[in-house]
Amino acid sequence: MLIALTGTPGTGKSSVARFLRKKGYRVISLNRIIVREKMVKSCDEKRKSWIVDMKRLEKYVENLKKKYPEKTIILDSHISHLLPVDFVIVLHCSPDELEKRLKKKRWRKEKIRENVEAEMIEVIAVEAEEMLGKERVVEIDTTSKTPEEVCKEIIEVLGKLHY
Ligand SMILES: Nc1ncnc2c1ncn2[C@@H]1O[C@H](COP(=O)(O)OP(=O)(O)O)[C@@H](O)[C@H]1O
Ligand SMILES: [Mg+2]
Repeated sequence: MLIALTGTPGTGKSSVARFLRKKGYRVISLNRIIVREKMVKSCDEKRKSWIVDMKRLEKYVENLKKKYPEKTIILDSHISHLLPVDFVIVLHCSPDELEKRLKKKRWRKEKIRENVEAEMIEVIAVEAEEMLGKERVVEIDTTSKTPEEVCKEIIEVLGKLHY
């Protein structure tokens, strides 16, 4: 079973991924795969973002499913919900807190604004529900939780899934 761990950059996906791995879950950082397998098609200079070859990324994900049909694999990326997954976990964070987190990461002002705005209108949650339907999407607010607490919540969600 493939689980997308998605959310606006800065909502804490990679932080929670570390705790999930410690608990024994298999978490794949798709950003790392995209770089390693050279799946960046081009770069949007204006927005300073990558254009990812989604067809190749999809193929990679489909192969994972074929190779490990019995395994639960979590895919960490803010585009993971756009892939052929079985379930989506969307992390949220209040726009103010998100701004703080991205400032701490020394992101550029324009990128911070772009992502805070995306979080305000919940772009990713809306996309995920369109892709998979509400019943296959769970949203978790991380604003006043530690990554460890978010990890615990995710494990509870995974425990309730029967496929
Ligand atoms: N639950 C949390 N509470 C407070 N700060 C957090 C939390 N999760 C992540 N952070 C911080 O916010 C920043 C972004 O986290 P990160 O895990 O890289 O997000 P993402 O992978 O979603 O982009 C990091 O500096 C991290 O230390
Ligand atoms: Mg990350």
